[in-house]
Amino acid sequence: MKGKSKVIETIVKRYEGDTGMLIPMMQDLQEEYGYLPAEQLRHLAIKLDVPLTRICAIATFYTSFRLAPKGEHEVTLCMGTVCYLKGAPQILETICEEFQVEAGGTTSDRLFSLQAVNCVGACALAPVMVVDGKYYDGVDPKSALEIIQGLSSSKEATVEKEAQA
Ligand code: FES
Repeated sequence: MKGKSKVIETIVKRYEGDTGMLIPMMQDLQEEYGYLPAEQLRHLAIKLDVPLTRICAIATFYTSFRLAPKGEHEVTLCMGTVCYLKGAPQILETICEEFQVEAGGTTSDRLFSLQAVNCVGACALAPVMVVDGKYYDGVDPKSALEIIQGLSSSKEATVEKEAQA
């Protein structure tokens, strides 16, 4: 990975400092780090002379941007219309409460990142949750929690292996 300020320099240069290209710049930044580090967003705001609040508003508006490093697992909950009507908000609320995580965030132990997205294209199976690319249909708050609780971290797996050895 390049030096921290070098990254912003390179990205800004790539778009010739055009503030209208803020979103592609942020996408490039995310590509570099896997998420948008707060410190880098501050650099970007200073370099482009745009208010940091504008950059933060974009970062929180688009679900494709992440403000925290990725977790070991990716949990995506569909909040599209059909899933929404079939109880997705309750599932989201339950997951957020149980694991102290917000949509777009990562649990403090980095076990998983949670995304709330629009239709994942499987409306007939609503409500749908996708974990590491695997689709789970007809989930409810209880089954969603069970699925997530079944996720193990590579750290635990190592400890278990050591215990078995
Ligand atoms: S609305 Fe959830 S899969 Fe379409």
